[in-house]
Amino acid sequence: MQAGIQRVLIDRGRIADRVKELGAQIAADLARDASPAGEVVLVPILTGSIVFVADLIRQMPLKLSLGVVAVSSYPGAATQSRGAGIRGDVPTDLGGKHVLIVDDILDSGRTLGLMRRLIDAQRPGSLRVCVLLRKPAASRREDVPVEYVGFDIPDAFVVGYGLDYDGHFRNLPDIAVLGPPEGQTARTPAPETA
Ligand code: IMP
Ligand code: MG
Repeated sequence: MQAGIQRVLIDRGRIADRVKELGAQIAADLARDASPAGEVVLVPILTGSIVFVADLIRQMPLKLSLGVVAVSSYPGAATQSRGAGIRGDVPTDLGGKHVLIVDDILDSGRTLGLMRRLIDAQRPGSLRVCVLLRKPAASRREDVPVEYVGFDIPDAFVVGYGLDYDGHFRNLPDIAVLGPPEGQTARTPAPETA
């Protein structure tokens, strides 16, 4: 087990199975909406969704394009959201298109609330949100409709499969709970380096 990881919550096999199901379902829904000549655009929220979206699009046999957005909500070594800030451009040509926002996790809801409003204002043909993980409703500051959820998880800080703590652990193939190994306690919840 990598240093800093308490336990694996969702292993790579379960993730792969679920991503396959999600891809098939989303592709069918978008194909129906976009028929016969509509355009499908996925808007992955970077950096956390990078691994998820790479796997998801390969399970979607459909003509689509990507319009990435970079959002920061956990500056540095923090495990509490401090509000969402956009660090770059949001695609501005989404009017009439069939848009799917893709994010790694729904926590406070601020990131996805902001993105939904910004994209809705462009009057897309349809707008949906897909998250790999969803924390319990008690974590929510903003109620955001989410059409597709990979897994509902407990209120723990998780890393891996694109999710980070202070920039690290994104390359872990499984989704794991951050912290000292089970049975041990530590004054600091996590090391600075992976
Ligand atoms: P929200 O705006 O609070 O919903 O936060 C969403 C963003 O915060 C996600 O896209 C993640 O980048 C980050 N985040 C929320 N919870 C976790 C976690 O448990 N581990 C790692 N990143 C998280
Ligand atoms: Mg993050």
